[in-house]
Amino acid sequence: MENVKKPIISFRNVVKSYDDDVPVLKKVSFDIEEGKFYTLLGPSGCGKTTILRMIAGFSEPTAGDIYFEGKRINNVPANKRQVNTVFQDYALFPHMNVFENIAFGLKIKKTPKEEIAVKVKEALRLVQLAGYEKRGISEMSGGQRQRVAIARAIVNEPKILLLDEPLSALDHKLRLNMQYELRELQQRLGITFIFVTHDQEEALAMSDEIFVLNNGNIVQSGTPVDIYDEPINHYVADFIGESNIVDGIMIKDNLVKFAGKEFKCVDEGMRPNEPVEVVIRPEDLDLTSIEAGKLKVKVETQLFRGVHYEIVCHDEMENEWIVHSTKKAQVGREIGLDFDPEDIHVMRFNESEAEFDARLESYDD
Ligand SMILES: Nc1ncnc2c1ncn2[C@@H]1O[C@H](COP(=O)(O)OP(=O)(O)OP(=O)(O)O)[C@@H](O)[C@H]1O
Ligand SMILES: [Mg+2]
Repeated sequence: MENVKKPIISFRNVVKSYDDDVPVLKKVSFDIEEGKFYTLLGPSGCGKTTILRMIAGFSEPTAGDIYFEGKRINNVPANKRQVNTVFQDYALFPHMNVFENIAFGLKIKKTPKEEIAVKVKEALRLVQLAGYEKRGISEMSGGQRQRVAIARAIVNEPKILLLDEPLSALDHKLRLNMQYELRELQQRLGITFIFVTHDQEEALAMSDEIFVLNNGNIVQSGTPVDIYDEPINHYVADFIGESNIVDGIMIKDNLVKFAGKEFKCVDEGMRPNEPVEVVIRPEDLDLTSIEAGKLKVKVETQLFRGVHYEIVCHDEMENEWIVHSTKKAQVGREIGLDFDPEDIHVMRFNESEAEFDARLESYDD
């Protein structure tokens, strides 16, 4: 009875290879829902731009299918898709002023002049550049150019806006500012944003949904909180946020052994005595006395990071533990580390995302 809305974009087993080489995308499948902010996150060369180019229609899949609102669009050319792209280098026309840059797409579509004027004005207002129509591109700062590039894309009223590392050229402060502005803009416009970055903090701060990529595959998808709290494997745990990752043995449900000791945990569904990896985030470790601690460690180094101290310790099995604490430790001292069962996150080797999701869901029963 319920009217289930089709995803605005779907990839089904999409492969991309160049010249019979190893594919740069390997059977990638995902759904993009309308009106959300998505981020493709992964290191250089993992295939982020390749995915964007296929959504935009600049490149065709070697195998597999791409759907727009349920219709196959593999061979639909870029200019027939309701998609606009903000390229990494902005690709503005340097010899045109701000107005002409933003109006360009509308002129090609033979939009009436008066309508163009109204739309450009509105687009400039949205990116907070009202009144900048006559400025030359060379007279704008990096952050302003970036906003012109966004205005040039949104003026065409796309259903989907693709943004390929649009903030990478900006200084830290401006970048943080633009993160807020982009997120706000997306919420105001209510259109789908697909944003590319290799910066995990940026992805966590901005997205409704993150796709973590590695080597032509999506390794995990989910909300920022899901991915941060429950990374599927070593790669994701290491890539997203800072992590302590040590080898362990899952003795039985809710009991894991690492650093030579057994600990209560919330994880279930592994084989008895299955070798696993264990993650504890640095902010979940508390400094305490040796007697009160679950682990005995020696403090090796300590750095002041502004909000917290970053303390590096080693346990008796030579595992390294990084701790983020507002308390100071003393280098060279032996201390205790405390943590809760919920702070332990156990990861299996070679678990698929479907198996992983099913296992996590079973915990709630
Ligand atoms: N036209 C092409 N011909 C051959 N190989 C290509 C071509 N375009 C991209 N590649 C290769 O495909 C892989 C994925 O490239 P892609 O541009 O998608 O990476 P990316 O994730 O966007 O990386 P970055 O963060 O550096 O922009 C890379 O190994 C790249 O060398
Ligand atoms: Mg790229």
